[in-house]
Amino acid sequence: MKFIPVFDIKVGRREKKYVNDCLKNSWLGQGHYVSKFEDRLSSFINSKYGISTTSGTTALHLACATLGLKEGDEVLVSSSTNMASVFSIVYCGAKPIPVDISKENWQMNINDLKKKITKKSKAIMVVHLFGHSVDMDPILRIAKRFNLKIIEDCAESLGVRYKGKVVGSIGDIGTFSFYSNKTITSGEGGMITTKSKKLYEKAKKLKNLAYGKKNKFQHELIGFNYRMPNVSAAIGLGQLENINEIFKQKKRIYNRYKSNLKDIEGLNFPKIEKWNTKFIMWVMNIYLDKKFPLSRDELAKKLLKHKIETRSAFVPANQQKTLIKKYKSFRKFKCPEADFIMRNGIYLPSGNTISNQEIDYVCEIIKKIVKRN
Ligand SMILES: Cc1ncc(COP(=O)(O)O)c(C=O)c1O
Repeated sequence: MKFIPVFDIKVGRREKKYVNDCLKNSWLGQGHYVSKFEDRLSSFINSKYGISTTSGTTALHLACATLGLKEGDEVLVSSSTNMASVFSIVYCGAKPIPVDISKENWQMNINDLKKKITKKSKAIMVVHLFGHSVDMDPILRIAKRFNLKIIEDCAESLGVRYKGKVVGSIGDIGTFSFYSNKTITSGEGGMITTKSKKLYEKAKKLKNLAYGKKNKFQHELIGFNYRMPNVSAAIGLGQLENINEIFKQKKRIYNRYKSNLKDIEGLNFPKIEKWNTKFIMWVMNIYLDKKFPLSRDELAKKLLKHKIETRSAFVPANQQKTLIKKYKSFRKFKCPEADFIMRNGIYLPSGNTISNQEIDYVCEIIKKIVKRN
């Protein structure tokens, strides 16, 4: 069997056609694919406005800046996430407050969130992790009670639904990533979505250096250049038009792994909660408990010997050395369930083009490793 990467992508016919259109007409920087991609994506997630950016990270920073987060503010954020979520808060001078996850479903733990609210809290950044939604109703209630803004980081959850509502359309601002390993890709890229005209106008201004209206070079705010190139938008649009096929592949991969691995003692799958009315696997996660004969790292090492690539779970914010050094109080923010997943979580090869035969091979090897130990 050839090497099985943890992720791969497929570029389709439409992406090639749209990119060729850009090249043929020299539409490289800004062009109509950008606005088309923004319109299609925002309507796909039932939001009103879409503002494209250069990455999921810049989308998050733009969201924080648009909401006016600043020094002295605290933002509650899922501890277990890609650190882009957490760093975007730091870029604005605000302080991230790591909130634990639930070990069962890997999403933000509402009880821990309640404990960590202070007078300085200004916003909650929920991260819909791995294609599963956060339980949003209690978060909406808490946000209302304490007057907090909500940013939904949907980088890993495009098209996912919470009680029928598409994530990214529930809070004040949703953010997306189109990096190559995301549900759809534009190579690099991101987007923010909102239903508020006021937030839309501010974000649009900030993203494009806040050029002046009367005199272009008299800038209205300290803005950024987070403009998505037209060529990237062309790829993103092509991918979006093929999203149902991508969903189909993801479902196939998830179901195949799950049925192959369901009877292995000590090997668990994150739970899919009832509120998550549309789950779309981002990557195939499992976590190991004491009944599993090997540690997560031993399993990863053995799989690699069989040319099977895997990835360990996130190191949560509360365990990040740079953040602990920056914020003295960080050590007191305990997140034991995020720590457990950091040690025991792993994801298996989940690229959209992985064949059933390759999935069966990965599962057979896992079973063999278990038998031998
Ligand atoms: C939850 C989450 N947020 C943000 C990002 C950052 O996105 P990007 O790599 O496009 O900057 C990622 C990337 O993997 C992510 O998983």
